[in-house]
Amino acid sequence: MPRHPAEPWRIKMVEPLRTTTRRQRQQALQAAGYNISLLRSEDVYIDLYTDSGTNAMSDRQWAAMMTGDEAYAGARSFYRLEAAVREYYGYEHLIPTHQGRGAENILSRILIRPGHHVPGNMYFTTTRAHQELNGGTFHDVIIDEAHDPACEHPFKGNVDLAKLERLIDDVGPRSIPYVCVAATVNMAGGQPISLANLTRVHELAHRHGIPVILDAARAVENAWFIKQREKAWREHSVAAVLREICARTDGAAMSAKKDSYANIGGWLALRDPHLAEQARNLVVLYEGLHTYGGMAGRDMEAISVGIAESVQEENIKARIDQVAYLGQQLADAGLPLVRPTGGHAVCIDAAATLPRVPREQFPAQTLAAALYLDSGVRAAERGAVSAGRDRATGENRYPRLELVRLTIPRRVYTQSHMDLVADSAIRVHKQRDRLDSGLVFVHEPENLRFFQARFAPAAPDSPLAPAQIS
Ligand code: F0G
Repeated sequence: MPRHPAEPWRIKMVEPLRTTTRRQRQQALQAAGYNISLLRSEDVYIDLYTDSGTNAMSDRQWAAMMTGDEAYAGARSFYRLEAAVREYYGYEHLIPTHQGRGAENILSRILIRPGHHVPGNMYFTTTRAHQELNGGTFHDVIIDEAHDPACEHPFKGNVDLAKLERLIDDVGPRSIPYVCVAATVNMAGGQPISLANLTRVHELAHRHGIPVILDAARAVENAWFIKQREKAWREHSVAAVLREICARTDGAAMSAKKDSYANIGGWLALRDPHLAEQARNLVVLYEGLHTYGGMAGRDMEAISVGIAESVQEENIKARIDQVAYLGQQLADAGLPLVRPTGGHAVCIDAAATLPRVPREQFPAQTLAAALYLDSGVRAAERGAVSAGRDRATGENRYPRLELVRLTIPRRVYTQSHMDLVADSAIRVHKQRDRLDSGLVFVHEPENLRFFQARFAPAAPDSPLAPAQIS
């Protein structure tokens, strides 16, 4: 059995968990339209829906919250956050936002015009939605290996430079407002990009006058992988590698709800003062004044402290090792997973697990529902439901990766929780042959449908259907 890392912290405050019976879970699942996103958190035992805003803050973060300056304009807490971003990420201009998608909205509005093309190392749901809302077309330029769950490539987040170059040739550099680079790549299963690759992306883009914008939500986790896997950076600190990542980009959109251990918050950072000025003009319309951007002063304090904690080697090591611990247990039991295990999640290949469930019946959504029913563990669907419909054709998108994402919040769950999750996932896997039909939509929202969609079992004899539950 793999070793679980000893946590570099001890527990000072606890939050009771509620266990449920299978009958209660069946009722909850039905009430949620078989969409784990619509479950009430009270009906969930171990919540691995996301690592976003679900992290445990440290005593230092809570203490800093008490010092929040809640002034409407010019709050001290903003200047502290600005200083932290300058120190650890190295960007000059900071525009605070309520969370990551707030930054994406402003970024997309200032840079994207109808007819533009935005290349990226795989799509992210909210990122692509904002690109498309502003008339842009997203182009996936990640390496092919990223779409193959079993492939053990150490940097599955890398950009395929030939794909990027071809796009630049095809549409012309002037219709590419920026290259969007995520570190790590969420939809690929938390896979990192290497510094060598990012350097070449930066060179290629800049040769054509195209800026590079980083999705920095999990860039610290990416920095850790670079330190482990890229020889040239082995002797450097995670903090130094993080700065190197950012140095190869012209700005960043950040969800502080991930790496920075905050429950809410985000920012947009830019090097170009003219673009920053445009962003400040928009932030007052959509988020709040340019010195709070939708956050309370105390939120900005929590993020500032969280940024410094995020690059502490023992913190980031324990975080990645805990995810690897769960991944190893599932791999040892023969579950088909995205390999190697990523930074924030263990992803089960639902298409390989449930080959008899047609893609139109959403194998990942189905498997996530079955897992919840088994033990009250809530995962996330990261497959065709998340991918949504093509805006031009209206057809469902069927990404090669049809995943159930077991997303681990930072500093929240213990080894016993991970063991329980592994036991349940393995049990459901052993019973997978019973699941030969999936789920169909009964309600499908237009935007980011995975959050609010409702489903029903496609066949009356589905093990998920009410009559089948004893
Ligand atoms: N970019 C990435 C890579 C993300 O993972 C997220 C959020 C965002 C941007 C948007 O940030 O939520 O603060 O508005 N990811 C969460 C998840 C929701 O569960 O994957 P946000």
